[in-house]
Amino acid sequence: MKIAVIGTGYVGLVTGTCLAETGNEVICVDIDESKVRKMQNGEVPIYEPHLDVLFERNIKAGRLKFTTSLKDGLDHGEIVFLALPTPEDEDGSADLKYVLGVADDIGKIITDYKVIVDKSTVPVGTAEKVEAAISKNTDIEFDVVSNPEFLREGFAVDDFLKPERIVIGSSSERAIDLMEKLYKPYVRSGNPIIVMDEKSAELTKYAANSFLATKITFMNEIANFCEKVGADVDMVRRGMGTDSRIGKRFLFPGIGYGGSCFPKDVKALYKSAKDSDYDFAILDAVVNVNQSQKTALFPKIEDHFDGNLKGKKIALWGLAFKPETDDIREAPSLYMIDELLNFGAKVTAFDPEAMDNVKRLLGDKISFAENMYEATESADALLICTEWSIFRTPSFKKLKDNLKDPLIFDGRNLYDLDDVSKEGFTYYSIGRKDIKA
Ligand code: UDX
Repeated sequence: MKIAVIGTGYVGLVTGTCLAETGNEVICVDIDESKVRKMQNGEVPIYEPHLDVLFERNIKAGRLKFTTSLKDGLDHGEIVFLALPTPEDEDGSADLKYVLGVADDIGKIITDYKVIVDKSTVPVGTAEKVEAAISKNTDIEFDVVSNPEFLREGFAVDDFLKPERIVIGSSSERAIDLMEKLYKPYVRSGNPIIVMDEKSAELTKYAANSFLATKITFMNEIANFCEKVGADVDMVRRGMGTDSRIGKRFLFPGIGYGGSCFPKDVKALYKSAKDSDYDFAILDAVVNVNQSQKTALFPKIEDHFDGNLKGKKIALWGLAFKPETDDIREAPSLYMIDELLNFGAKVTAFDPEAMDNVKRLLGDKISFAENMYEATESADALLICTEWSIFRTPSFKKLKDNLKDPLIFDGRNLYDLDDVSKEGFTYYSIGRKDIKA
């Protein structure tokens, strides 16, 4: 099928590339000329596992092309995906200026029937607004479909190629038939394509992400309570997660969720409920609890050093908001760095992928190490903010040699208490008892 993808951010790029992978002819459109030029030369603008291989293969095969011309994209695609940014407005709602701006332009240049697909995460009622923005400028027939993405960073290619479900929000048989034809190759396993109305599809995305953010936040509060009463959140988690109604996943406590989706989506759902006169109280709590969770380890650091952090050197492992990405949006590491610097500490960080992004943001406010062990040389403590696999089985001997004292603050509960205790470390984690060397 012939596809256009408008917007080559994270979602657009993965969508375009993975649609090309099953034989569709895809043109991706972006207004950023230098980015388009780079992509035309085979350069992938983001780090996402496996994307580079698919990208190269499909460009070579002529199935994946890039342009700055919306008209060329629209002339080509019978299905046109809108994968545009919906940044957070000052009041927490999703800003639709990019989505509606492009919809407006589409109305001016559309010449034959198109299915316009909202792939961006948008508030309930956006499909109606997109429809109005297009039809204002044209009489040509078109349909607007809501088709939310459920791509996890780090697993986006796999999530796209083997989705657990596809949600299609539309009331047009013609559009639904085309969308089902497009997605059929991805759900051969029998996973469902769930067809519903536009508004329910739009809400599904917000509901799913807000529920997951709530699940994590609930566990973070259980962890905080465990610390008060001397329980072990790891045990509680295992005890809970074996109940199939609860499930084992997304129960891992830590220093809060971050990224481009959960923080924005929870706030946007709260705001959109408020606009409809509904006080979605639990979401307000989730936002606030998560905010304080990001620095939950800080009081422990402060206590350990008797409030005197001035000149202390902290080695920090993990800057990305989660492993397998270079994304630092809303990353807990940044909030911890802020606190540490405010209290006069020095930070030397290591992250396998995200250091360039942090360098651009913080300049020389912190220093960066070539590898995880170099960061710990002569440091007063090690602080872990992201659970990259490489951090899971360190050489404790090397750490002991490098650190001034064997001292770890772990925001992701990477190590067994028994193991670190045997290795002779002082170890603070989340929702578990402190180990003193
Ligand atoms: C999320 C959704 O999972 C995806 O479906 C959606 O469309 C985009 O948003 P992503 O932001 O890439 O994906 O990350 P995800 O793997 O879901 O993790 C989100 C955050 O929750 C991370 O900060 C992670 O560290 C945190 N998390 C996750 C926990 O703190 N504990 C857990 O048990 C799971």
